[in-house]
Amino acid sequence: MFITFSPHLPLSLSNTSFTIYTQVLLQHQHIQQITTQDLSHSHSKKFIPNSNFAVTTHTKMMEILQNMQLIAPLFLVLSLILPLIFFFYSSLFNNKEPAPTKQTVTIPKSYPLIGSYLALKRIGNRRIQWLSDVVQISPANTFTFRRPLGRLQVFTGNPATVEHILKTRFSNYQKGYSFISTLSDFLGTGIFNADGNTWKFQRQVASHEFNTKSLRKFVEHVVEAELSDRLIPIMASAAQQDQTLDFQDILQRFAFDNICKIAFGFDAEYLTSSAERSKFAVAYEEATEISSKRFRELSPLVWKVKRALNIGSEKRLRMAVKEVHEFAKNIVREKKRELKEKESLESVDMLSRFLSSGHSDEDFVTDIVISFILAGKDTTSAALTWFFWLLSKYPRVEKEIVKEIMEKSEAPVYDEVKHMVYTHAALCESMRLYPPVPMDTKEAVEDDILPDGTVVKKGTLVTYHVYAMGRLESIWGEDWAEFKPERWLEKLESGKWKFVPKDSFTYPVFQAGPRMCLGKDMAFMQMQSVVAGILRRFAVVPTVAEGVEPNFISFLSSQMEGGFPVKIIERETSN
Ligand code: HEM
Repeated sequence: MFITFSPHLPLSLSNTSFTIYTQVLLQHQHIQQITTQDLSHSHSKKFIPNSNFAVTTHTKMMEILQNMQLIAPLFLVLSLILPLIFFFYSSLFNNKEPAPTKQTVTIPKSYPLIGSYLALKRIGNRRIQWLSDVVQISPANTFTFRRPLGRLQVFTGNPATVEHILKTRFSNYQKGYSFISTLSDFLGTGIFNADGNTWKFQRQVASHEFNTKSLRKFVEHVVEAELSDRLIPIMASAAQQDQTLDFQDILQRFAFDNICKIAFGFDAEYLTSSAERSKFAVAYEEATEISSKRFRELSPLVWKVKRALNIGSEKRLRMAVKEVHEFAKNIVREKKRELKEKESLESVDMLSRFLSSGHSDEDFVTDIVISFILAGKDTTSAALTWFFWLLSKYPRVEKEIVKEIMEKSEAPVYDEVKHMVYTHAALCESMRLYPPVPMDTKEAVEDDILPDGTVVKKGTLVTYHVYAMGRLESIWGEDWAEFKPERWLEKLESGKWKFVPKDSFTYPVFQAGPRMCLGKDMAFMQMQSVVAGILRRFAVVPTVAEGVEPNFISFLSSQMEGGFPVKIIERETSN
């Protein structure tokens, strides 16, 4: 998975800022001590020894901590002054104009101190769409957004630039300090939250374990069991009782159970929601949500101060993270004990594989497993949610898919699922329009110049806008808005379809280059199995009012705002 480091900025300086301000005034000395201890503790314990990256980052952290004494008063002053500046600009410029449409969108104006904040404020929860429109009208599909307090963020939809940042100058565009520090309480230095040698090492170990045939067999087994024992019975019962289901929620729970079994052989039972066992799932969801919301704060200092004071969302995050880590560590210890006794583990989950191949450092395996759960939990569910939505709008495509499914055996085995070419193309096409990771951001390590001439200064954020790229006429042609799996297919003389992939820098839905998604094949296998299992038996009918388009939003991955209400119809009766 993936992370959307979107320019989520608060719409106004919240009450929290003022609460913090008051508390900070009262406890100023105390905070400085706690913050320093707290940060140094949480970081020093996470980093893997002998990693250059770890050493550099730790030194950086210490420098920052030493500077906290200077930063804290500055933060206090800013938290007082900034709301006044925002208020001043808001009243000075006509902020009551309607939000721009695709036809009226312009490159946003920027003002001293607040940058293009006002433009963003007017957009509300359609930021991805608005930024996509701006990318589309910008020369070379690239523009520089000015965030408050002078930070720059380049947005691009240009395949040549995407190749430049993800491959050609890979080492210059990293996750970066602000991203990693925001997620480190939760993810530690797991693969998803690491750069440099720390990342490289995990990638090497994980890709080796990930590509084995037996793991794919395991996926087939896990997905099959979750489908036939849980998902299909839930859907059959909903069909019988004419219930409305939030299908997005169902798919998220399904994906969570799947990825937990794959990552560490644990059945979270989230889809059946047995209260005791899903405690882990609930804590994991909470940790994900609160960690991702840290990106929305005006300054990282806001959540850092809240964390130091152990108040509000940060208090809940601390408890959720503790629960997740303790739980995962217990499983790791259990497996290690088993391994000592038996010398080899019977289970084939990732954790067992890591331990069996000699990687026994508890923190390392726990972090990597937690990162994998995050990577796999909401991506496939987001893809499937929008896929079923599109099928309801394009019955022609659904008919083709059902035809392909009916040609396979009732519970298709791995090879059959793999050869569902039309379904595979339809999933690619659906993720073109609704990518599970709609934007992905890197931070420039050094000054650079992008292929179109855009100057990038050290520390600038560079975001490739996957959602915009799926809508560019220059890439997909005039009919880009149409859901058309045939764009990915070629008809052979035999009458069969052949899948024609797109170059990964033009379609970076799974990212591209050295950090490309490790779970891509696994994700397609899961999704194709789910589609086959569901559509063979049921039709999924949205209850969204006629003409209403659900809103596409994103935190760490994309979602349908407010859920996806559907009725389930048994196929025999629907045809
Ligand atoms: C439709 C489903 C999926 C999509 C669209 C997707 C997309 C992505 C993207 C865009 C990234 C890059 C994120 C970043 O660096 O910020 C990524 C990384 C990753 N994905 Fe996926 N992913 C999917 C499913 C999965 C699954 C099911 C797994 C694992 C079981 C997985 C494992 C990973 C891992 C481990 C990484 C980190 C790779 C690295 O940093 O070297 N993904 N994915």
